[in-house]
Amino acid sequence: MKDLFGKALLDYQNGNYTEDLITSTHISDEDSLPLPYLFRDYKNMPKLEQEALKLSKGKVLDVGCGAGSHSLYLQNKGLKVKAIDVSQGAIAVSKLRGVTHTENKGLLEETEQFDTILLLMNGTGIFQETAKISQYLQHLKSLLKANGQILIDSSDIKYMYEDEDGGFWMDMNAGYYGELDYFLSYKNEKEVPMKWLYLDFDTLKLACDTVDLKCELVLEGEHYDYLARLTL
Ligand SMILES: C[S@@+](CC[C@H](N)C(=O)[O-])C[C@H]1O[C@@H](n2cnc3c(N)ncnc32)[C@H](O)[C@@H]1O
Repeated sequence: MKDLFGKALLDYQNGNYTEDLITSTHISDEDSLPLPYLFRDYKNMPKLEQEALKLSKGKVLDVGCGAGSHSLYLQNKGLKVKAIDVSQGAIAVSKLRGVTHTENKGLLEETEQFDTILLLMNGTGIFQETAKISQYLQHLKSLLKANGQILIDSSDIKYMYEDEDGGFWMDMNAGYYGELDYFLSYKNEKEVPMKWLYLDFDTLKLACDTVDLKCELVLEGEHYDYLARLTL
């Protein structure tokens, strides 16, 4: 990983904002991911994220914290927060913005237990592909205190396969339709291609059943997105 995501966050944080990140997937064209969005405050967050922050309690783990926006909000409310991210740049920026407890590591390397685990901005993306869902869910489960909760958001991206006539063109022999090859570039440099997983609520719930996690729908967003709460 070249950590272009982290590089872009650092540029923005250091006042060197000249361009946005460019993303695309194997089923969609290039789109820009505006850097200011990654530095959003509470009032500029989607309702699903605001709800996740309202429900957060106790000791919190922010997984894939990015620029640390959710961690900062909860820390300022007096909660004990730990922010982790595989991106070195993201962790550097979170520290610069004032997140006090950060670690540059992946979710599967975490071993402490928490009352609330947050995975926000398509949190299921971190699972990468359907074959890894149960490994990630089982690990998340091992990080939960007795009355703990996992708050995770995602979207049903079936709409991305709809043509003008209302028909769907997805290949039923291919894997699950939310499993995407994800490409990112910044300042004319290309990141190593990644896998990024979007999960519809029913598929997430089925996966939770197989590892004995309860899965409830907390809130639906405006565009096929939702917030789920997983508990023991
Ligand atoms: C879409 S960004 C979301 C950032 C932040 N949560 C937000 O809402 O602004 C996804 C983040 O997850 C991080 N990430 C990806 N895989 C990870 C993993 N296995 N463990 C921890 N962080 C991961 C990426 O580096 C990136 O910062």
